[in-house]
Amino acid sequence: MQSIAVVNQKGGVGKTTITLGIAEAATASGLRVLVVDLDPQANASSGLGIWNGSPSIDDVMAEPRAGSAIEAIRPSRWPEQKPRPDLIPGSHLLANREPLLAADPVGAQDRLKLALAGVTHDLVLIDCPPSLGLLSINGLFAAERAIIVTEPAAWAADGVDLMHNTVERVSGRLGTPKLAGIVVNRVGRTRDNRYWCEQLQERFGSLLLPQIQLRAAVAEASGQSTTLRALGKRPGAAEAAGQFDALWTELDNRQGRGQSTQHHDRMTESPTATTIES
Ligand SMILES: Nc1ncnc2c1ncn2[C@@H]1O[C@H](COP(=O)(O)OP(=O)(O)OP(=O)(O)O)[C@@H](O)[C@H]1O
Ligand SMILES: [Mg+2]
Repeated sequence: MQSIAVVNQKGGVGKTTITLGIAEAATASGLRVLVVDLDPQANASSGLGIWNGSPSIDDVMAEPRAGSAIEAIRPSRWPEQKPRPDLIPGSHLLANREPLLAADPVGAQDRLKLALAGVTHDLVLIDCPPSLGLLSINGLFAAERAIIVTEPAAWAADGVDLMHNTVERVSGRLGTPKLAGIVVNRVGRTRDNRYWCEQLQERFGSLLLPQIQLRAAVAEASGQSTTLRALGKRPGAAEAAGQFDALWTELDNRQGRGQSTQHHDRMTESPTATTIES
């Protein structure tokens, strides 16, 4: 089983979108995928066609018991794609769970890890909330790898540094998660976007994964609780699906190689690092 936490304490950068895009790509490649919606906003659940799912991740987090997540796993409602990814539904109740977790002197950080014991899916994707709080920390403790999602915008690199530091602090204690890389999402064709892409490239080099462009079809797919493949001939849908396939392929390739969580040497340019579109 592979497990990946999708993180950034910054809101609205595309964590949920990237989670769903990777879920689609990995499922299409034949893997059994489980999405864990660890965000009280529960956007990943709506994107997968599930509202107010019960039992939810809040029920799972309420109970410090090995394997408690298994009872909360249900199939998503994505059309066409067979098999569909599975989901542990999010819940707005999770917002109240965080302070309760903090009161647990033993299991505050690894409750999700304990709950996921015995899950047999090929790939578990954990969509984390936009915070550095205990929910995201539980996501990091439960995952073998983490990816940081960001945008080509001002201060993005500082936000990535902060998250990278948190990933390193967790992995310094636990040995995991390894940083699988950084995804620059919502890449447009403006000069400003290009400038910030170059800044991220210079700062993070080989840590950068294949990027995802800004496309209406990407927002439409999750807004309509469907897949890019199901959008069919909608302009941009096939291209976006291809970008998520490339992202998943690279993540899968890096799995075997074992990534460093250290900052890269600025002089090193990986052949797999994304190049800026001209
Ligand atoms: N590549 C893209 N092209 C077009 N729209 C996108 C793209 N990526 C994300 N969006 C849109 O941007 C908005 C924010 O994305 P998303 O919800 O995935 O971010 P998030 O980081 O999960 O947010 P939060 O921090 O609130 O959980 C959504 O409306 C989504 O549809
Ligand atoms: Mg989200």
